[in-house]
Amino acid sequence: MKALDAILTRNSVPARLLGDPAPDGKDLETILDTAMRAPDHASLRPWRFVIIRGDARKRLGEVFAAALCRRDPLADAEARQKELNRPMRSPLIVTVCAEVVEDHPKVPVVEQIVTCGAAAQNMMNAAHAMGYAGIMLTGANAHDPLVKEALGLKAKDEIIGFLYFGTPESEPRPKKRPDAADYVEEWSDVAPARAAE
Ligand SMILES: Cc1cc2nc3c(=O)[nH]c(=O)nc-3n(C[C@H](O)[C@H](O)[C@H](O)COP(=O)(O)O)c2cc1C
Repeated sequence: MKALDAILTRNSVPARLLGDPAPDGKDLETILDTAMRAPDHASLRPWRFVIIRGDARKRLGEVFAAALCRRDPLADAEARQKELNRPMRSPLIVTVCAEVVEDHPKVPVVEQIVTCGAAAQNMMNAAHAMGYAGIMLTGANAHDPLVKEALGLKAKDEIIGFLYFGTPESEPRPKKRPDAADYVEEWSDVAPARAAE
């Protein structure tokens, strides 16, 4: 698939509709290589990708369930089961983490986070171009200290998203997209309200 076609046709697919095969071997390497093409101020390489598949998904589910119980000691069995099942919905999860440099003289943390987001989007587009599909999910687990610790992150670091990947069970329904023109303006001079200040 051509690059532009891939970008212009990508749709997220719900994690539960992503089955085998997941990207593996050379395909997964190619997807990860596209992350290396993300814009990266001062070449900090703030990204880290934690691959979770097979039985490791079960252990991640246990971490999610433990994190839930710590956040909400009154969580019922149904809620705990939902967390146990969460990573099992798709065959592959690539967790995109930002290991940020705080107080960098040139690159604020927000820029490092953007770099990791761009890396994530490159991977989503690449997976789609190769015939796979994915979705980026966060939720409470992405911000939970227990989950971060289990993945080897420090408190300052962030989980940008869990990228669930697989092959869609059916062709994703085309989704109506906003008209870019509604979000674009041409700037030529200081906005009037500001100019008056
Ligand atoms: C950082 C980030 C986190 C997200 N987390 C969730 C999430 O936890 N749950 C969810 O339903 N969608 C989440 N989304 C949105 C989906 O990834 C997806 O973009 C959305 O379902 C729209 O589909 P589309 O990508 O085809 O436009 C998140 C998106 C981003 C960028």
